[in-house]
Amino acid sequence: MTAPQLLILDFGSQYTQLIARRVRELNVYCEIHPFNQLPDYWREVKGIILSGSPCSVRQEGAPDILPEVLEGKVPVLGVCYGAQLIAKKLGGTVAPSEHREYGRAKLHLAATSPLFEGLAMPTQVWMSHSDTITALPENIERLAGTESIANGAYALKDRPVYGIQFHPEVTHTTEGLQLLRNFVIGICGCEPNWTPASFVEETVAQLRQQLGSDKVVLGLSGGVDSSVAAMLLHQAIGQNLYCVFVDNGLLRKDEFDQVVASYQNLGLNLIAVDAKEEFYTALKGLSDPEAKRKAIGKTFIDVFQDEANLLPDIKWLGQGTIYPDVIESVSVNGPSVTIKSHHNVGGLPEKMKLKIVEPLRMLFKDEVRRVGKALGLPDFILNRHPFPGPGLAIRILGDITPDKVRILQDADAIYINHLRQSGWYDQIWQAGAILLNAHSVGVMGDERTYEQVVALRAVTSQDGMTADWVHIPYELLAQISNDIINRVKGVNRVVYDISSKPPATIEWE
Ligand code: XMP
Repeated sequence: MTAPQLLILDFGSQYTQLIARRVRELNVYCEIHPFNQLPDYWREVKGIILSGSPCSVRQEGAPDILPEVLEGKVPVLGVCYGAQLIAKKLGGTVAPSEHREYGRAKLHLAATSPLFEGLAMPTQVWMSHSDTITALPENIERLAGTESIANGAYALKDRPVYGIQFHPEVTHTTEGLQLLRNFVIGICGCEPNWTPASFVEETVAQLRQQLGSDKVVLGLSGGVDSSVAAMLLHQAIGQNLYCVFVDNGLLRKDEFDQVVASYQNLGLNLIAVDAKEEFYTALKGLSDPEAKRKAIGKTFIDVFQDEANLLPDIKWLGQGTIYPDVIESVSVNGPSVTIKSHHNVGGLPEKMKLKIVEPLRMLFKDEVRRVGKALGLPDFILNRHPFPGPGLAIRILGDITPDKVRILQDADAIYINHLRQSGWYDQIWQAGAILLNAHSVGVMGDERTYEQVVALRAVTSQDGMTADWVHIPYELLAQISNDIINRVKGVNRVVYDISSKPPATIEWE
């Protein structure tokens, strides 16, 4: 595997992954490691970035780093908490802020520095902190400040160690990418050589070496991640890769056939399994969301295992796991709470006694898409909205019946077609229809009806962690609602979900 040129030490900030994505946008391969687990090769990297943190450097037992990291043999950039930590460790003072320091601020230059090369000063930056560096030690030079804080950026006088109080990784810091480029390429000397094509070439070679003539089985979902993982493995080992695609009866209308056709066009060794009945039977009478997820996960494992057992001499299980699932989260404030269990197929590798191969485990979602494009995956697969593993089962509130699935598939297909035809589909992160477990009174012709309600959901998001509802024009909503009510038997009312995440979630269950 590629050795990272740059390390990001994570102190638990919500923005840490964003720093990594920005550095990779500069075509520099970097990795995130917990602040207290420096890899042994850390002295060989070309640069280190210290992230922000929800902690305060003033609190007892605050996350810390080895003093050697600041010796300057490897250039260091401290961001927010990282900057405060360096300043404090070297003899400066950090105190609670007196002013509100959250949001946009204008940064003024106090001394020239390669860190600010090419930036038009003053420049807009994004602040998010409650402590401030109130005094810098002797050997640190102040580089920039805002109206409310003097020490907005600094550099050590004798070493390539820098600190910035603001967040260059968020887009509100208008010239943040240029600042990161100055550090990563200018100061650290990292080479911008990491591209989708270089990733494909290296990964395919490495997979060939790792797998030899072994056989691999992989579960396809129709989504981007498993498709790209399959394509990489296919390039590496060809027909020794067996792809299993299961129809769980909870996919979108006609999706199974469409996806099967496109996988076949790509030359994948595909085993398409119709397991609708098994899933409906497992779900019968279940209405609790977590119980439904568990039943689907278990049934998937059973079906997949039965298929894999029919294949000769499989040694490996391929998975489309991506970097955000792999990064060891730094839990500085206690373990995080599970809101929904999203890992649908946990337990599969242990049960099947297979080794695991995960060609995407170091990629972010947007990188997976770019790699998919380089591999020639069709846009139809690359640009599709995320779709949850349990599928329509968590968009049918309450218990699942084949009839409810049919109603929701029809309503959802009308909705998504309208979004595609009007050009809105590509502006939306994720959209789908939800079948509520409520009936409402209506009137059709002279008849009173008592039928089901469909909710429409569409959100924009970066990574699914937070989301905003989309302001779809009323005219378009009117057409969609009309079409659904007129064409889908069993539905007499359509509503639009105008909740953001948080406090709501994207899915209703
Ligand atoms: P929520 O509803 O938690 O969803 O805001 C965030 C993202 O995760 C997807 N999601 C799931 N994906 N299995 C999955 O594979 C699940 O059980 C599951 N639940 C939610 C959701 O579609 C959204 O993209």
